[in-house]
Amino acid sequence: MLIPPAAALHPVNLTCDYRHNPIGIDDTHPRFSWIDSSPRRDQFQGAWQVLVASSPLLLSHNRGDLWNSGRVASGTASLITYSGRALTSERRAWWKVRVWNRAGQPSAFSPAARFEMGLLRPSDWHAKWIGMPALDPAAPNEPVALLRTSFILRGRIRSARWYGTALGLYQLQVNGMPATNGRLRPGWTDYHLRIPYQTLDVTRLLRPGVNAVGIRLAAGWYAGYVGFGHRRFHYGNAPRAYGQLVVRYRDGTKTTVSTGPGWAGAYGPTLGADLLMGDLRDSRREMPGWCVPVMMERWNRHFGAVQVDATPSVKQPPGTRPAPACDWPGNIPLTAESDRPVERVAAISPKVIRETAAGWVVDFGQNMVGVVHVRAFGGHSGERVTMRFGEVLNPDGSVYTTNLRGARATDVWILNGAPMQQWEPQFTFHGFRYAQITGWPGALTSANITGIVLSSARPDASAFECTNHLVNQLQHNIQWGMRGNYLEVPTDCPQRDERLGWMGDAEVFAPTACDNANVAAFLGKWMDDVDDAQSAAGGFSDVSPRLVDPADGAPAWGDAGVIVPWTLYRAYGDKRVVADHYPAMVRWLNYIRSANPDLLWVNRSNNNFGDWLNVGDDTDRALIATAFFARDADLMARMARAIGKVRDAAMYHALFQQIAAAFDRKWLLPDGAISGGTQTSYVIALQFHLLPPAARRQAAADLVAAIRKRGWHLSTGFIGTGSICQVLTDAGYADVAWRLVKNTTYPSWGYEIARGATTIWERWDGIRPNGTFEDPGMNSFNHYAFGAVGRWLIEDVAGIQSDAAHPGYAEIILNPLARGGVRSASSRIETIHGEVASAWRQEKDRFIWKVTIPANTWAEAHIPAQTIAGVTEGRRSIARAPGIHVIGMAHGALVVTVPSGSWSFHSTVPTHRRGALSR
Ligand code: BGC
Repeated sequence: MLIPPAAALHPVNLTCDYRHNPIGIDDTHPRFSWIDSSPRRDQFQGAWQVLVASSPLLLSHNRGDLWNSGRVASGTASLITYSGRALTSERRAWWKVRVWNRAGQPSAFSPAARFEMGLLRPSDWHAKWIGMPALDPAAPNEPVALLRTSFILRGRIRSARWYGTALGLYQLQVNGMPATNGRLRPGWTDYHLRIPYQTLDVTRLLRPGVNAVGIRLAAGWYAGYVGFGHRRFHYGNAPRAYGQLVVRYRDGTKTTVSTGPGWAGAYGPTLGADLLMGDLRDSRREMPGWCVPVMMERWNRHFGAVQVDATPSVKQPPGTRPAPACDWPGNIPLTAESDRPVERVAAISPKVIRETAAGWVVDFGQNMVGVVHVRAFGGHSGERVTMRFGEVLNPDGSVYTTNLRGARATDVWILNGAPMQQWEPQFTFHGFRYAQITGWPGALTSANITGIVLSSARPDASAFECTNHLVNQLQHNIQWGMRGNYLEVPTDCPQRDERLGWMGDAEVFAPTACDNANVAAFLGKWMDDVDDAQSAAGGFSDVSPRLVDPADGAPAWGDAGVIVPWTLYRAYGDKRVVADHYPAMVRWLNYIRSANPDLLWVNRSNNNFGDWLNVGDDTDRALIATAFFARDADLMARMARAIGKVRDAAMYHALFQQIAAAFDRKWLLPDGAISGGTQTSYVIALQFHLLPPAARRQAAADLVAAIRKRGWHLSTGFIGTGSICQVLTDAGYADVAWRLVKNTTYPSWGYEIARGATTIWERWDGIRPNGTFEDPGMNSFNHYAFGAVGRWLIEDVAGIQSDAAHPGYAEIILNPLARGGVRSASSRIETIHGEVASAWRQEKDRFIWKVTIPANTWAEAHIPAQTIAGVTEGRRSIARAPGIHVIGMAHGALVVTVPSGSWSFHSTVPTHRRGALSR
């Protein structure tokens, strides 16, 4: 097809449910998005047309036999719901889109993208759950089972899919070749309510004749150690695998190979595999070719019959609600994986390797999450290599592990004497910067070991940089905290015996996460876990999936159930996530309200953690709780409005006002101070708009006074830290925010950095000024909650915000924080409309600012300036720049609207201070 020469817009980066070409989805109304790209400025989409076809050939002839939307006059380019013929199990579909700009000029059709349905109905599944006998509670390790079968394919193969999952973790091999994408599959959900399955395209691994499939099955979250308290077997004690291989022949027939009695099982070389404890591999027991047809027979004597269950066996974790009756065996639906899997996202070479009295100590230079890949050249059969992992070093240079509590975090490798052997543990992960290795054959060098970073998140497309090294390191630490703790679910920490989906931590960090990467699918999946964890009474939980901590959620922890959907709506404009979780949110509001008729949240506050880990500045817990109750009501009002529930919106808005009034009556003193006077109380009262307008100025001044009283340091915990800088900036105290961010004395982010932090610490003094470690009972060096300040860097310093009234960056606010802190700053972030960038620098009294606004969006830009005179775009006076409309001066800036494209502003700025109290 010819591309019209002057096409103004090109639809690119086609995604379906936030993923590129997903296979095995079970969303029967998937949502399409694309990015309108354009070499020109001021380009908007005026219409679109989507074609969805059942074959690539039909699509190439522009025949949308599944759906032809026709030309739809609309500027929307994201999350467009498929509205064609019903999508049934295994349906494959190819789609493309073309767009028209507002002048009616069409683009060419985009290249084809595709998606494919999984197995949607219970009757599509014929497999049985297979595995080895239940794990021995007396044994310290959970061995990995090998399960296999062979079969004959008679005919030429057109395509083959594996639909499968496990209670535990599994990896699929086809004819000895790895077939699973990602790690730690099928991931973690509350298995008693939902078991996610994967669909894998294995066409190229099969051939006519004899074939074999094999599964390595480990304990994982299902049967292994999770959480604190040294407990395992949370969901069951007998890991099971389940799946169907569906092979389609060219002649149109098909054959299915399912897990069941025809399979055989054995224990292989991995004698232990546990997420918290580590892997144990005896290489002498390796069975090369155990699932390669011509070699399988050799291992027959190791294999015996598997145990077979018709239904999945899953215990209901304490505090969760029982599974409702449904058509699925055991009442547990199999649901298609909806997120990208945990993957290897980077490999890191050692920075330093030292021989110490405690063994070899390898420093990777970065606190990371994952495993190591080791290669040994030589070594005798039976030699035992032990690898321990930790985040920091003891004074004697050995690796400090006391803060890992009950997590053994130890991998053991028994060598088999081959001249060259290698190993990468598959069913565990550690949080570490250092590995301490004993028993290594000979001298350990960087040729022997590589750090493998595992994560569900890829904060690589977004960036923030400025002229201050400390602040750049802070951004680096925030991103590494996100990589390490966005692993299958958003966790508190990746190293000790915990690694749970703590709701409070997730909620405060979520906005920063959305600024740093596209986490819509990741947090969208987790919101299902949050709903699954809601109690029968309507209480969200403290941790999702709900495990170990059976209590209903504490204030600010349970509230993640409302705040995270709002955060996703704001960042991605996703109304479905709001609508899907709306009933659960309503139950949560009722849960709080029915127990607290005075609208002060004093009852049913469960574990009430308060301002967790504040610095000797404890805030009244009822104050925090009530503030979050108000926040919930406010967000409910806004979300109800977004999904067209007008009456609810009015009701929740009124509730918000009543709670705010109750808050003021209880805690706002006649002199304008907030009772208790903690920094956090001022932060949340301002952030959540709980004070009458007349009291806001005073509250902001009191907050500054409370900071001054601490020698210009913060004293906030989880609740106040994330937004203290934004609140100060909005109130006109950006200079105070900068002071907090640039501090290098305790407590501050800079203090951690000065002590070598490469991630965000759980405690401000994880390492005390005298060099000793904080209480090992709770001292993680990779805990992202305090990294929630990252939002301030991107949204305020670089100044890129999604306009809350037009979520998903449909309209963008560009409002940089010039002066006060650094001479220049830049950021680019990936939005669903494309990249938004802001890069500014201050040269004497000149302010130079380059911005990029994606096609089909526009921005309200606040150009720091004293007057309009002298403000230019390129060489042109701003008033004459085409496409730009001047609104006027506000708070030391010239406010203009700017359409899409790249723009370069210049202005004269003496001192600039932002002062709007009203964001
Ligand atoms: C976790 C926290 C969590 C807290 C609840 C801790 O053990 O690591 O980050 O939010 O418990 O107070």
